[in-house]
Amino acid sequence: MSKSIRFYICLAVALSTLYETDGYASDVVTRCLYSSIDMHGAEFIQSYTFNKVEHLRFNSTVGEFVGYTELGLKNAKRLNRGQEVVQMRGELERLCKPNADIHYRAILDKTVEPHVRLSSVTPPSGRHPAMLMCSAYDFYPKPIRVTWLRDGREVKSDVTSTEELANGDWYYQIHSHLEYTPKSGEKISCMVEHISLTEPMMYHWDPSLPEAERNKIAIGASGLVLGTILALAGLIYYKKKSSGVL
Ligand SMILES: *[C@@H]1O[C@H](CO)[C@@H](O)[C@H](O)[C@H]1NC(C)=O
Repeated sequence: MSKSIRFYICLAVALSTLYETDGYASDVVTRCLYSSIDMHGAEFIQSYTFNKVEHLRFNSTVGEFVGYTELGLKNAKRLNRGQEVVQMRGELERLCKPNADIHYRAILDKTVEPHVRLSSVTPPSGRHPAMLMCSAYDFYPKPIRVTWLRDGREVKSDVTSTEELANGDWYYQIHSHLEYTPKSGEKISCMVEHISLTEPMMYHWDPSLPEAERNKIAIGASGLVLGTILALAGLIYYKKKSSGVL
């Protein structure tokens, strides 16, 4: 596993309170963010939101309330002088630590390998006539690295990628594109690194016709052969019949 991927996982422990009246909504969301099971880098975050705007947040790494709006700034100042901030500073120990074990066992220590597909797609009208897409599906957790290699060397230019897209079922997918001008004899590969894999996985592009195309041609060719045989048989039958042999 390459060191460049930092394994970072978040778990929102929803201790969320929502108040709603006459189109105004106010909510408080409490989160424990875990980076590793030993609690290294863990954070306790409490966010105060009014009408979808977060105006105030306690972040355990900062150690005090931070305001983001006029209302938030005023409240941060008040809360940081009182008992609230003292209690908040204890929440990482009190709430997040004892629960870490449960969350890791239930979800956070699970890893699922991506299914990777390499395909040729139509390039946007650009500098290059060809484009490949490397898609990784259904992996968990979110951090992943998809890179392109051309004859073993990493390609950085003409590469675009989506974000890691959440499927909504805990899994993620990502699509990386490489625009290129084909050269004969070159080898293009897509490399995928993920915590579920013991080593980076390589997928090599085979520029010969894709299987679906090969199948179409094979089916078409068989049809042609069969058709010709039937036509010939029919012709012979007709000839013999009309010449009175049958
Ligand atoms: C908490 O604060 C630290 C230090 O400023 C920052 O690096 C981190 O991203 C913050 N976490 C959140 C969830 O905002």
